Amino acid sequence: MIEANGRLYEDLTKILVTREEIARKVDELGKLITTEYQGREPVLVCILKGATVFFSDLVRAIDLPLSMEFMAISSYGSATKSSGVVRVIKDLDNDILNKDVIIVEDIVDSGVTLNYLKGMLEHRGAASIKIVTLLDKPARRRVKDLKVDFSCFNIPDEFVVGYGLDYDQKYRNLPDIGVLSPAVYEQ
Ligand code: IMP
Ligand code: MG
Repeated sequence: MIEANGRLYEDLTKILVTREEIARKVDELGKLITTEYQGREPVLVCILKGATVFFSDLVRAIDLPLSMEFMAISSYGSATKSSGVVRVIKDLDNDILNKDVIIVEDIVDSGVTLNYLKGMLEHRGAASIKIVTLLDKPARRRVKDLKVDFSCFNIPDEFVVGYGLDYDQKYRNLPDIGVLSPAVYEQ
């Protein structure tokens, strides 16, 4: 198969999760959410920008009336290690009081970002808050008691890009998830 974005694949050491594996998992998660939230209208919160690709596939795998919200929060510069400094860059457009909120994240690494975000949304009076993530790096968790309700793939401690995840804002448009060659970020 000829890749439209084949050039980007040259910067990967390997493909970790293929688009087919992702599609199967997203479908499974969509069905799970559909069953669990039967009779309710959850608010799905997409954490910009990394979760956008996952989010757009996931919402279409859920057979429920739902609403979408977008939030930008950052604990990262353009480096590959979490700084622990959390900033809200773009807030939700609508009130979440008494709503069933599902936070959709690309990857849980230290857990600092999500822990902060979850606390903030709890404080605003959500009826329930669950966290779903595409990827989880359990080896790097610093917030030990953060509950991730659903993780599609647990991955080793390697820096990955693709399917929404970036390095220095690039590689988000790769359809698969791959390990970025260290040569790209170590000069
Ligand atoms: P945490 O606060 O350390 O859990 O940071 C999570 C955020 O760090 C994610 O939303 C990503 O934006 C970023 N991140 C962590 N690991 C990776 C990676 O391997 N590739 C790309 N971004 C990553
Ligand atoms: Mg992110």
